[in-house]
Amino acid sequence: MNILVTGCSRGVGLEICRVLLEQGHTVYGVARSCPQEFKDLQTQYPGRLQYKSVDLSDSEHVRENVFGDFVTNKVQLDGFVNNAALAYDDIVSNINLDRLKGMYEVNVFSPMVMTKYAIRNMLLHHTKGSIVHISSISVHTGYKGLAMYASSKGALEAFSKNTAREWGSLGIRSNVVVPGFMPTAMSATLTDEQRAKIYARTSLKDATSVRSVAETVAYLLSEKAASITGQNIHVDNGTI
Ligand SMILES: NC(=O)c1ccc[n+]([C@@H]2O[C@H](COP(=O)([O-])OP(=O)(O)OC[C@H]3O[C@@H](n4cnc5c(N)ncnc54)[C@H](OP(=O)(O)O)[C@@H]3O)[C@@H](O)[C@H]2O)c1
Repeated sequence: MNILVTGCSRGVGLEICRVLLEQGHTVYGVARSCPQEFKDLQTQYPGRLQYKSVDLSDSEHVRENVFGDFVTNKVQLDGFVNNAALAYDDIVSNINLDRLKGMYEVNVFSPMVMTKYAIRNMLLHHTKGSIVHISSISVHTGYKGLAMYASSKGALEAFSKNTAREWGSLGIRSNVVVPGFMPTAMSATLTDEQRAKIYARTSLKDATSVRSVAETVAYLLSEKAASITGQNIHVDNGTI
């Protein structure tokens, strides 16, 4: 399969690339940077991990930047993983509109535009493709300081469910993976005390496994999940 993955350079996105490569797929990854760990994967799987540097904060140009000379119509796209995101973390009474708009560009507007062109590619090739968005447990539980971030993920969850309804008759599926807190760059600023509090809210009393999230994404992309669409799959250690 050919899979487009955003935010491929580190954290969950890099792990999704690794799992898909292990399973024999070809990955088209976009992010702004290309660290050594990503380059090592390219060396390990020659020709199967393509990369383009794209800044997803520019939704106006996301079509030409991603689909113009990278995932062209010659590529038959089987899956799209919307993983790239940033967390604008602050309390509601401090909302800064520029920062809010900047986050929505990356977390919501670019992913929506990319979904548009991913579906068009699938229609062109008559592919029963699979779309997977990465949300966050903060949508469902609430955390102080994450209202703006959680709202962007809530938008994706609604977008995915409605996309599933709209395109299901052509076999195109759309699902969401809802991870709990993971030890990645995104959560690096949390103190040990904050982490302990977050993990205490989970049934398994621990951080969510990045590998488990990536494996779930790969499962939703696969034929094994042929009857799963319009769903939010929680991979969150049982957060209550
Ligand atoms: N970490 C957690 O605890 C947690 C919990 C729940 C959900 N999530 C979600 O899981 C997903 C992956 O997060 P993560 O923890 O792996 O975060 P991360 O380590 O910060 O990685 C974020 C990825 O997004 C890319 N990205 C950010 N801004 C971009 C931009 N303007 N243009 C292009 N790419 C951009 C980054 O690449 P470059 O910097 O190279 O551009 C990076 O590859 C996100 O959707 C996040 O919201 C995370």
